[in-house]
Amino acid sequence: MKNWRYSNSYSPVLGAVDIGTSKVCTLIGRKKNNTIEVLGVGLSSARGIRRGKIIDINKAAGAVRESFSLALEIAHVMPDLIYAGVAGDGVSSFNLENEVFLNKGGREINSRDVDKALEGSKAEVNLEGKKILHLLPQEYIVDDQAGIADPVGMIGSRLRVKTHLITIEDSQFHNFSKSFQQAGLEVHRLIFQPLASALAVLHPMEEEMGIALIDIGGGTADIAIFYGGSIRYSGVVPLGGENITSDLAVGLRTSRDEAERIKLHHGCAFSRHIPDDEVIEVKDLGLSSLQTVKRKYACEIIEARVKELFLLSRRMIKSSGFYPFLRGGAVLTGGSALLEGIAELGSSILELPVRVGSPESKDHVGMIQTVSHPMFSTACGLLQFGLEDITERRGKKSLVLELEDRGSKIIDWFKDFFMLE
Ligand SMILES: Nc1ncnc2c1ncn2[C@@H]1O[C@H](COP(=O)(O)OP(=O)(O)OP(=O)(O)O)[C@@H](O)[C@H]1O
Ligand SMILES: [Mg+2]
Repeated sequence: MKNWRYSNSYSPVLGAVDIGTSKVCTLIGRKKNNTIEVLGVGLSSARGIRRGKIIDINKAAGAVRESFSLALEIAHVMPDLIYAGVAGDGVSSFNLENEVFLNKGGREINSRDVDKALEGSKAEVNLEGKKILHLLPQEYIVDDQAGIADPVGMIGSRLRVKTHLITIEDSQFHNFSKSFQQAGLEVHRLIFQPLASALAVLHPMEEEMGIALIDIGGGTADIAIFYGGSIRYSGVVPLGGENITSDLAVGLRTSRDEAERIKLHHGCAFSRHIPDDEVIEVKDLGLSSLQTVKRKYACEIIEARVKELFLLSRRMIKSSGFYPFLRGGAVLTGGSALLEGIAELGSSILELPVRVGSPESKDHVGMIQTVSHPMFSTACGLLQFGLEDITERRGKKSLVLELEDRGSKIIDWFKDFFMLE
């Protein structure tokens, strides 16, 4: 057992835990000059979670504990605070508006007016059975002047705010908190996963121009639309890489493990790229013999599912009303964004320019080689989010409401296990 200590408080160390459908990823890191130093990375295969929702607290806790312990073994420093990501269909989002009257002749707007306008915007939503994850201002309107990022100090008689509210069902919140508690950890804040991924892979200029981020993981494709520098829409398509693997297993009459191998090594989402005469060997269900299959046939199975995923994404993006504003196109991230040909297929269905996004290595030092991968976008973004959150509370432009600001602590299990002082 090692004698590890908590970090110095002037340079807090954060833990970022992304609980996905396929894997749980923990990053431990801190700010170093203007970069993020990644000190430790831990990965475990996910258990007890389906489509972003926890379905077995004990199993989920085991996966969190394993991933966190691995990161801790490498980092050799216990995080001061933990940020965790959530997604799934228990998370809902709303675009809201609210107006406060200042006085007839106009007066200078102060931060209390801004808080009142923001707080009032929640009144439109029935919050029974829900907790607020984020209340994000999109723009302020002072009298008739729109597009204001920070109205404090301006003169006006009316202050209007447009916000994006993201909520989580009480039960889902409970299950997440409980899984961490059982893993011996306490979460400081839960962050909506696509917000974190966006922070890791989008350029501020893209968020200004209009862009759709699609994080295609194992269980879901999480969509977030940004325009004018703010989030405008978020939604979830209940399909991901695991559906592709299941389809392949059925279509090729093989095991899930073999289907996953075929997908990773021979998969392509644009089957017309594949020559007719290319063949691959696939273990049959009994694993006793090999069958020869046309690679094109396997890729047609993959393409059908990815096509469905993009058609649903397109419908969702169009129904958001922001499709005409996507001058930056779309960015795909998450592990399934590595599928060969996925950007081309996405572009042809979404009728937008599409690129694949990974966490920006220029902003990181330390174990960057390990995390420069679309699979780590959410975890990198969570770490970045947390580090910005604790240094400047993320300012007015993307205010995050605290669920319970108890000041997180790592509880006894880890202290005992690692003999922390
Ligand atoms: N090279 C690759 N080609 C195709 N698919 C890949 C590749 N690498 C990883 N994947 C797929 O990515 C998926 C996992 O992605 P990711 O780690 O982003 O998911 P997750 O965060 O655990 O899940 P979710 O976000 O849906 O809850 C798996 O289905 C895996 O098969
Ligand atoms: Mg994910």
